[in-house]
This record gives sequence, C-alpha cells and structure tokens, in this order.
Amino acid sequence: MRGALIVFEGTDRSGKSTQTRNFTNALQAAGIAVAEHSPWSFPHRTSPVGQVINAYLTNKTHLHERALHLLFSANRWEKASQIRQALRRGETVVLDRYAYSGIAYSVAKGLPLTWCKCADEGLPAPDVVVFLHLSPEAAAKRADYGSERYENKHMQTAVAKVFEQLRTEQWLVVDADADEATVLNRILDSAMPTVAKARSTPHIASLWN
Ligand code: TMP
Ligand code: MG
Repeated sequence: MRGALIVFEGTDRSGKSTQTRNFTNALQAAGIAVAEHSPWSFPHRTSPVGQVINAYLTNKTHLHERALHLLFSANRWEKASQIRQALRRGETVVLDRYAYSGIAYSVAKGLPLTWCKCADEGLPAPDVVVFLHLSPEAAAKRADYGSERYENKHMQTAVAKVFEQLRTEQWLVVDADADEATVLNRILDSAMPTVAKARSTPHIASLWN
C-alpha cells in the first residue's frame, strides 16, 4: 500500500508553507504515515544545486533563464528517488511547490511551454495538486512580500495566468484569502479521499501522463 503524493502550488505568499505544515500535522494527527521532514519544499535550497538557485533568488548572482529553469528541474530530480521510495514505504509525501511552479515562472518570463515541460518529464506525478488561489493585490499585503526576486505584481500576475493554463479538473483550487482554519478544512475534505485512493492504486504515475 503506497502513500499519496500531494503537491501544493500557488503564487508567492499564497500560504503554501503554512498550509503544507498544517496539513502535514493534520495527516499525522489522523494516524496517516507521512515522510520524514515533510513537507518537502522546492526549491530545496541546501543542496549544491539549491544553493545556486538561492543565490539567484536573493539577487546575489545572475543566470541564463534556460540554465535557471534546468537547475530548478535538477533540484527536483535530486529528490525524485527519495519521493518514490517514501511513497512505496506507504508514506504520504507533501510538497511545497513542484514542476508546475517550474513551468509557471519560466513561461511567465517568456520561455516556451513545451521546452519547459521536457525537463520534468518522468518525475513522480502527484495524486492531487492543491492550488492556493490568492489575488496579486491580496498577496502584496502579506508580510515580507517583495523581499525576493519575482515578488512584484507584474511577475505574479503573469505567473497566475500560466497556472490557470496548466490547471486541470483534477486540481483542488482553494480560496487562500479565507482564514487559515477554513483553508485547511477545505483541503482536508478533499485530500483525505486522495490518500485512501492512493492506497488501492499501487502504480505511481509519472509526469506528464
Ligand atoms: P519559494 O518562495 O516557494 O521558496 O520559491 C522561491 C521562488 O522560486 C518563487 O518565486 C517561485 C520560484 N520557483 C521557480 O521559479 N521555479 C521553480 O521550479 C520553483 C520550485 C520555484
Ligand atoms: Mg516565495
């Protein structure tokens, strides 16, 4: 019986870090096995690749757009086998951003969609994508907004548009402007059946199927 792969996506300051943490705690409280150190975040900033990404995001270095895209993807590939292993052990893995962010931010900067998708082809596919929807105006009012590259209205609006393009009927779209508990309950209602369903579906699918 495998665990579920649950991916949280959204623009900056939409509450992904808070909600992935709350969600992980709620799963554990319900007796569901969760991968150690969950939630796992991308970019994972402490690996060698992650350190280069972090330097870019904090404006300490410049990178070619395509090189940056491939680094973000490499940063996920570094973790791909750990994700599969955890799922096979029966542990649910909660991710704070994944390949959808990779595409949304790169396409928002003008890179071709098909080229962007290629780099992540073959990564473990999520059982559900939880999309925290927040308007750029509401995001701009949140604490620390603007401290990193991309945290400006122009970029966030462009990113939101690509996310909309990527969205399928399998995504769970949640209004992230609601209060913290309401958002969590909404996610739990929908994600609990996903965890149950993963248990009876041994196959772990791959992107982009
Ligand atoms: P974070 O705010 O979730 O730590 O992510 C840092 C920034 O990196 C955020 O603005 C989104 C961006 N990003 C990409 O551009 N491509 C990616 O593949 C990922 C995972 C994040
Ligand atoms: Mg951010």
